[in-house]
Amino acid sequence: MTSRPIDRREALGALAAALTTLGGCGGGPPIPKDALVVSLERVPAGSVVPIRWREEPLLVLNLGGTIRALSGTCTHEGCPLGWNPRQQLIRCPCHGSAFFPDGTVKSGPAQRPLRQYPAEVRKGKLIVFEGGTTS
Ligand code: FES
Repeated sequence: MTSRPIDRREALGALAAALTTLGGCGGGPPIPKDALVVSLERVPAGSVVPIRWREEPLLVLNLGGTIRALSGTCTHEGCPLGWNPRQQLIRCPCHGSAFFPDGTVKSGPAQRPLRQYPAEVRKGKLIVFEGGTTS
């Protein structure tokens, strides 16, 4: 499985597939038990939502038609990150690192990008899978 953001066309395609198979039993490969499954309603367009998953903080971003699931832990010394909507940046309160919404570093002291988890939209649900890479 690859790690990449979900674009609007994919999300709409998944939604259309879900609607056409409404009442059916298909819907793609089974979802692993360790996957995170959340309703897309919980992550509306334009939002960044912190979600805890197996003791790890995630930031799920639904910005500009792209959905990403990023680690919510700073790559400098592990502080919890937050979203600054005015700056449109992920910020660390400990030493001031800033990350772009794609997880890359805008300014340090952090040097490494945030881990990005594989994610997909299926039948109105966002599914985040174990694994992932730095962007
Ligand atoms: S822990 Fe985030 S900048 Fe130091």
